[in-house]
Amino acid sequence: MDRIEPLENLRARVAGWRAAGERVAFVPTMGNLHQGHLTLAREARSRAERVVVSIFVNPLQFGAGEDLDAYPRTLEEDRRLLDGTGCDLLFTPTASVVYPRGQSGQTRVEVPGLSDILCGATRPGHFVGVATVVCKLFNMVQPDVALFGEKDFQQLLVIRRMVEDLNLPVEIVGVPTVREPDGLAMSSRNGYLSPDERALAPALYRSLTQAGQLLRQGIAVDEVERTAVAALRESGLTPDYVTVRRADDLDPVTGDDANVVVLGAAYLGRARLIDNLRVTRI
Ligand code: PAJ
Repeated sequence: MDRIEPLENLRARVAGWRAAGERVAFVPTMGNLHQGHLTLAREARSRAERVVVSIFVNPLQFGAGEDLDAYPRTLEEDRRLLDGTGCDLLFTPTASVVYPRGQSGQTRVEVPGLSDILCGATRPGHFVGVATVVCKLFNMVQPDVALFGEKDFQQLLVIRRMVEDLNLPVEIVGVPTVREPDGLAMSSRNGYLSPDERALAPALYRSLTQAGQLLRQGIAVDEVERTAVAALRESGLTPDYVTVRRADDLDPVTGDDANVVVLGAAYLGRARLIDNLRVTRI
């Protein structure tokens, strides 16, 4: 697997594949790869002849006071892990490739509505940063298909909406969340947890699982949300939100919506953990 920084080299390589009639699958990441990322890369392998993975810690999606500087950068280990997935090319653009004139004042991509709720309400500007960088990366790589984790469920919907609204010729594939044996969703940010905090962290998934059971029993949405928030507090986490939404647009659930998702976010030590669970409601 080769690693490429300059955009011209990436374009030349992809153009060669296209000329040979090969399809290109793309997995954008911020690195510090774990089994969640590697599952996306393997899934990409099964969907196209060629796979490009990018690593770029995107400053535009971090708010002031967030963990941009602390975000783990582990390029050599990432390379080693990716080698085993059949990835053809690792694209690691520098900030000056992605933001040639700096971040401020450059064209941005905004997906209104979806970007302003839940994680977007707590992290203003975050999804503009995500949509902008993913749109730019799509224009650089020009993939046929791109894969995203369901772990970042709101992000996946923001990207789907962007692709639809901008008529981008990319198929978006969502991949189920990869978990640790105790249920904790894998995340680069789990590394921020102390051993004691790590032992508490599976409470987030537990509270979502319990919420799913209550929903399937027909318990009202607001009661389910209150129960889950209380369970998180009792477990020593500081809830940001737990909410039940329609799975296709994250709108509030109405009486007969069957296809829903329970989304949760909570603070634990230095980390902000997010997770979600799809539920079919009666
Ligand atoms: P990052 O957090 O590195 O995640 C890259 C991709 O891996 C995302 O699609 C994410 O949903 C997926 N992923 C992370 N943990 C996962 C897990 N446990 N199971 C399955 N998939 C998982 O998300 C980003 O980077 C950035 O916002 C990015 C899209 C690259 C834009 O900068």
